[in-house]
Amino acid sequence: MRPTALIPALCCAAALVLSFLCLFAGHKKGFMEDYHLLTLNTSMIGETLVNETRSTDTSNPLTNLLNGIQNYGSTTINDAIGEVTQRLGIEDFYSAHMLNYCEGQYTPAEAANATVSQDEISKNVTECSRNRAMYKFDPTAILEEALNKTTGLDVTLDDLNWPEDVETGIKTLNALMGAMFVLYCIAIAFIFIALFAAVVAVLLSGRLSACVNFLISVLAFLAIGLASALVTAVIVKASHIINDKGNDIGLQANWGGKFLALTWAATGLMLVVVLTWVVEFCIGRRHSKQPTYAKHG
Ligand SMILES: *[C@@H]1O[C@H](CO)[C@@H](O)[C@H](O)[C@H]1NC(C)=O
Ligand SMILES: *[C@@H]1O[C@H](CO)[C@@H](O)[C@H](O)[C@H]1NC(C)=O
Ligand SMILES: *[C@@H]1O[C@H](CO)[C@@H](O)[C@H](O)[C@H]1NC(C)=O
Ligand SMILES: *[C@@H]1O[C@H](CO)[C@@H](O)[C@H](O)[C@H]1NC(C)=O
Repeated sequence: MRPTALIPALCCAAALVLSFLCLFAGHKKGFMEDYHLLTLNTSMIGETLVNETRSTDTSNPLTNLLNGIQNYGSTTINDAIGEVTQRLGIEDFYSAHMLNYCEGQYTPAEAANATVSQDEISKNVTECSRNRAMYKFDPTAILEEALNKTTGLDVTLDDLNWPEDVETGIKTLNALMGAMFVLYCIAIAFIFIALFAAVVAVLLSGRLSACVNFLISVLAFLAIGLASALVTAVIVKASHIINDKGNDIGLQANWGGKFLALTWAATGLMLVVVLTWVVEFCIGRRHSKQPTYAKHG
């Protein structure tokens, strides 16, 4: 019996739960929506489109449509943020999760005003896509499809004045999303093995089991640490690019702080596991050396 092995066992169990939550957060409507990877705030896109198209060319298929949406003056538009977008069939936000994306409306308002503070604004999810491993989060296609459905016109990327760099940011996100998914699966597998090995070690003491546990937990720690580092770099970088270039078209991106808290908490727990096994190994070493000292002494 080695009761101290209960500490790594419990940490592994907690890390396993957290890693599963990373994978499944937001996988269905209303389940941990706030734990998104990245949310695109598209509530202002309509207003920008109205401004853009009203001023210039008539070959843009959106112009007629937008002219049809009453005669919004600039002031009216700014008072009714989100209204044009809603009429165009575009939702307020699109949030990417590990297995799918969700879309919906900000409630009670799209942007903070005198009576509604930023903290009071929450997300009301309308719909989530089907769960799929390594899906593509492609807001351009989503927006084009929404516009085509509402307008019956063939709206393309050019009509949206979608900056190229935004597209680059999203491509980066998509290219690495598959790698993230695989890393989380590997991490979950290793953490599960580490949990099993720790439970065995509770019953079976000895340096060998401490050594085996140490090796397995190091692998699990590396996998979850790598997944966390990758996800952090990618979502922070992608939202930075999108915010940098997308503001002109009223696009805003927010990376998921809560998701990062979740994944780094799991990483922290696995670090505790690794350190526990180092200590266990050293204690075991001292114990096994004691008879030798006794002989010499
Ligand atoms: C639309 O254009 C007007 C004047 O050209 C400007 O004051 C307003 O801020 C613009 N609105 C948006 C949402 O870009
Ligand atoms: C703020 O937004 C809410 C919800 O749209 C609206 O009811 C309220 O009148 C707005 N307040 C001001 C001061 O514009
Ligand atoms: C959405 O983006 C607009 C600007 O594009 C911003 O004014 C608004 O506060 C944002 N809404 C939320 C809920 O973040
Ligand atoms: C969320 O949206 C649904 C459908 O659009 C609506 O019935 C519901 O009242 C909304 N919930 C909140 C909290 O605004």
